[in-house]
Amino acid sequence: MKFPIFPEQASTISRAVDQLYFGLTALSAVMIFLIFLTLAFFLFKYRKGKEVERGPVRIPQLTIEVTWIVVPLLLMMVVFAWGTHVYFHQQRVPPGAMEINVVGKQWMWKVQHPEGNREINELHVPVGRIVRLTLASQDVIHSFYLPAFRTKMDVVPGRYTTEWFQATKVGSYHLFCAEFCGTKHSGMVGRVEVMDPADYEKWLSAGRPASTMAQEGERLFRELGCSGCHVGSSVVRAPPLEGVYGKAVPLQTGQIVRADEGYIRDSILLPNNQITAGYQPLMPSYQGHINEEELLQLIAYIKTLGRRNPEDKQ
Ligand code: CUA
Repeated sequence: MKFPIFPEQASTISRAVDQLYFGLTALSAVMIFLIFLTLAFFLFKYRKGKEVERGPVRIPQLTIEVTWIVVPLLLMMVVFAWGTHVYFHQQRVPPGAMEINVVGKQWMWKVQHPEGNREINELHVPVGRIVRLTLASQDVIHSFYLPAFRTKMDVVPGRYTTEWFQATKVGSYHLFCAEFCGTKHSGMVGRVEVMDPADYEKWLSAGRPASTMAQEGERLFRELGCSGCHVGSSVVRAPPLEGVYGKAVPLQTGQIVRADEGYIRDSILLPNNQITAGYQPLMPSYQGHINEEELLQLIAYIKTLGRRNPEDKQ
């Protein structure tokens, strides 16, 4: 009979996470065994009525103190180094990832692929590819949890978080919200469908909408009036956006920040927080005029401005 204690291992990091977990459990088990064995031994040896030497014991103080400090310290350092290694592996997105955007809201997951395809409570991905999710929340804190991939990330309003995985097996896997987010939290679930790359391409083209995410972003860029200031021929002096994504941006304060998704998001919603060096704080905030999905589309468009620039190799 099959009695799975753990969910299936379906991503490149699943095994490392499980090994760490089993390692910690084994270490705890050994410690508990040693402590209780010693306890039982002394309980038996010094039981009432037993003829036994009960005078003070002479153990070298220094030896025993050094032992009980150094041995647990070394053990803990092993656990620390091991855990840190797994943690960084899980946190750092490897290069060459395909990007998918996820917006959490009470009580559903809305997914949009760069090609424009949308889905709700489902996430289709090709097997073997590194997938980087950009996560946003429209209301409260959610958490995007993929047990079979051993990865989970909080989805926090007002900022982007990221999560990555590389699925190793074709199949259908659970997707949960792992942060209590209201009355229907338990219903905020879905499936990740890991497909053969060819099937994924078929799935993409079968449901392909008229415009990609970047094209939707481009339309918003014109409709919201961004193009009025942020294109080369504009009268108002605003920072040019070509190739800005991924670059270091010098600020008026002398600080230098990297123009990632979070920076672009803040520049749209809180434009006066970080003024690019050499520019005036003229831009109005778009807070309330644009929702999370539209923001991600705008950012997708601004990213392509970088790629279109022939001098930008990225
Ligand atoms: Cu969303 Cu719990």
